[in-house]
Amino acid sequence: MGDSKKFDPKKIHKLTDPSRKKFQDPALIWQGLGKAGKGILVDIGAGAGFFAVPFSQQAAVHKVYACDTSEPMIAWMQENLEQDIRTKVEIVPSSENHVPLQDALADLVYMINLHHELDAPVQMLEECKRLLKPEGTLLIIDWKKKAMEMGPPEKIRIAEQTVQEQLLQTGFHTITNHDMLPYHYMLTAVR
Ligand SMILES: C[S@@+](CC[C@H](N)C(=O)[O-])C[C@H]1O[C@@H](n2cnc3c(N)ncnc32)[C@H](O)[C@@H]1O
Repeated sequence: MGDSKKFDPKKIHKLTDPSRKKFQDPALIWQGLGKAGKGILVDIGAGAGFFAVPFSQQAAVHKVYACDTSEPMIAWMQENLEQDIRTKVEIVPSSENHVPLQDALADLVYMINLHHELDAPVQMLEECKRLLKPEGTLLIIDWKKKAMEMGPPEKIRIAEQTVQEQLLQTGFHTITNHDMLPYHYMLTAVR
């Protein structure tokens, strides 16, 4: 795969734009997670911490590991996340199919707006499984595969059905489509 699928760090302003809350509100997503939102979280493809920061402020959360493969994104978080935030958000440089954290560490692993950028989605789902505690939850949110004015081109988007099949292939169970966002699908699955 070429790098064309990958988010261009020069467009970081798109990730920090507060108007995103109109269609991808972290508070609403957190609510949708219900009891799965707790403990130790791993955010794969954290970008500018748009989700890692508000999720870390939830009382039930002990720590969020904010992982990203992009050096500019990691540097941006290191420079811009306030010290008080950093007590609960740990920034982790990761590689395409590997997150350098121990096995069975996480209550919740999440990938938001990332699935269509992955080189090897099934391998990454295996990695998510490795990171999760037994009965831990994986959350995947990505753009619906249809034409719209915003987001990545339709041709590089991954259909929700394909993600569901990949989750089954990797051995996740209790796959739930939360269907609560206008432009994105929101799936949870249990390890
Ligand atoms: C479109 S951005 C989304 C960022 C964030 N999740 C959000 O919604 O605000 C995708 C991010 O995933 C990162 N990324 C791409 N491939 C990755 C991988 N295999 N593992 C971890 N991060 C990755 C990119 O560098 C980029 O920061």
